[in-house]
Amino acid sequence: EPSVLQDMFGRFHNYLRISVTERCNLRCKYCMPEEGIDLTKSSQLLTTPEILRIARIFVQQGVTKIRLTGGEPSIRKDIVELVRGLNELRPLGLRQIAMTTNGIALRRKLEPLRAAGMDGLNISLDTRDPRKFELFTRRSGCTHVLQTIAQASALDFEFVKVNVVVMRGQNEDEVSRFVEMTHEDPLDVRFIEYMPFDGNKWGRQKLVSYREMLDGLVRIYGDRLERLPLEPNHTAKGFKIKGYKGQFGFITSMTRSFCSECNRVRVMADGNLKVCLFGNTEVSLRDLLRSGASNAQIVDTISQAIKRKKQAHAGMDILSQMPNRPMIKIGG
Ligand code: GTP
Ligand code: 5AD
Ligand code: SF4
Repeated sequence: EPSVLQDMFGRFHNYLRISVTERCNLRCKYCMPEEGIDLTKSSQLLTTPEILRIARIFVQQGVTKIRLTGGEPSIRKDIVELVRGLNELRPLGLRQIAMTTNGIALRRKLEPLRAAGMDGLNISLDTRDPRKFELFTRRSGCTHVLQTIAQASALDFEFVKVNVVVMRGQNEDEVSRFVEMTHEDPLDVRFIEYMPFDGNKWGRQKLVSYREMLDGLVRIYGDRLERLPLEPNHTAKGFKIKGYKGQFGFITSMTRSFCSECNRVRVMADGNLKVCLFGNTEVSLRDLLRSGASNAQIVDTISQAIKRKKQAHAGMDILSQMPNRPMIKIGG
């Protein structure tokens, strides 16, 4: 009897990403199209009880890790309550609750989130230069995010990661400065290859490859640079500098995709289930829920969607698979 969360290629999906809002307090150019997006009507967004019901079903089927995304998840009014609700799923098998956030509105929520059961945070920051930050995000807040990262890493989160999307001519000169953030703090900085999404004006020339970033660091650090063993279902290839407290890695979606290890599924703010970041096959769990479906029916729909998941999507193939959604409506 094949499991509900297993696909036709033997991949077991024990990692659920839930986008809890389409809104954001930044306007990153690689994420939100210049003209903005059509927000889903709020009556069509999942409510907190609906999210918790879906999460429970997934955990009962074997999901052990839930990551909240957005838009910007911390601006959802009841985010702390939502985390508390997820925390109650631990006896059913949930082992990790995490969030990907831009850190802008996070400071006052750090401790409440930790207390509610949040295990770790991935904080996005693409530049340490306030002027560039404003260019990239069309808003201010760079110093604030840096302070929030420092504060978070001083609290007892299991991990604090920093996500840096590297773009040619924009921030590739800052890679080693970001590596230096791992000297004194136990941070995990991840350099992300720039990916195309609807409306983000991606171009091959803007992509800085993993190889190029790594070569640059080898020139600086030489044999102080150490490769770490690959983690199961990794997105990042990990490294560290000998003697530094933290580590860093590369998320190589474009030049060395990791689809064969994929263990992720996504539920978006509008209740659509998406089985691949780049696949546009989606099914509405919201409509099913609101039509009075039983848990068994929902499980069945999830199972069918996962069985339709393709073997691979990422890498340069992504380019032929448009249209997708803009990033802000997926959550990464
Ligand atoms: P961990 O739970 O720490 O492994 O987080 P993560 O790296 O999966 O998630 P995060 O939200 O921090 O995203 C970091 C980068 O990885 C973003 O650019 C995401 O778009 C990308 N990413 C996340 N999941 C996938 C995926 O399934 N496929 C691809 N190609 N990229 C992904
Ligand atoms: N390419 C790669 N990563 C992206 N992110 C947003 N847009 C892109 C893109 N076009 C990152 C964000 C965040 C994570 C969810 O995805 O910076 O860290
Ligand atoms: Fe907001 Fe994150 Fe998208 Fe930037 S990348 S606009 S912070 S959701």
